[in-house]
Amino acid sequence: MTLAADLAFRIESGGMADLPDVMVAMGDAFDPEYGEAWTEAQCAGILGLPGTWLLIARADEDPAGFALLRTIADEAELLLIAVRNRYRRQGVGRALLSQAMEDAQAESVGQLHLEVRSGNPAIELYREAGFVQVGTRRGYYRGRSGKVFDALTFKRRLGVI
Ligand SMILES: CC(C)(COP(=O)(O)OP(=O)(O)OC[C@H]1O[C@@H](n2cnc3c(N)ncnc32)[C@H](O)[C@@H]1OP(=O)(O)O)[C@@H](O)C(=O)NCCC(=O)NCCS
Repeated sequence: MTLAADLAFRIESGGMADLPDVMVAMGDAFDPEYGEAWTEAQCAGILGLPGTWLLIARADEDPAGFALLRTIADEAELLLIAVRNRYRRQGVGRALLSQAMEDAQAESVGQLHLEVRSGNPAIELYREAGFVQVGTRRGYYRGRSGKVFDALTFKRRLGVI
């Protein structure tokens, strides 16, 4: 898949064998200040559950980013999406999200949910993809320095991609 002028990348379906690459992107993408990154054990635990799926973006063989999702009944949740710094603003996040919505729709999922820290620039990506804010969890995240942040919940109705 090539969506940007300069960066050629592809989105693949991933599994346990891709966790080392996921952790490369995880370590690069998340600011430790916010405590949002998951450990490899947490990722492995959730990937082992039914309904969970992983998408991985690669530029040649280099891991560029990933998305981790879970379906429960006819609803799905975007658990994590991350793109390494060097690959940002080249359409990789948009492509991961778009593939996630396509996959969810193919499984007859009616709504995709997500939660994001207030102030995270990812909110722009979500809004652009048609997500609307449906709630706020006050003081849900506590950063490393003790500062607290609200969590915002968003949802995207599927079927009209
Ligand atoms: C959020 C994230 C996944 C976006 O990845 P990306 O590959 O850079 O996103 P894209 O290039 O596909 O951006 C698509 C659009 O989203 C919006 N967007 C993405 N990043 C943005 C930013 N930092 N500021 C403002 N808008 C942004 C823009 O509208 C952008 O389109 P444009 O570049 O044409 O203006 C990436 O910044 C990231 O990994 N962040 C850290 C991890 C994180 O917080 N994940 C979300 C919570 S799990």
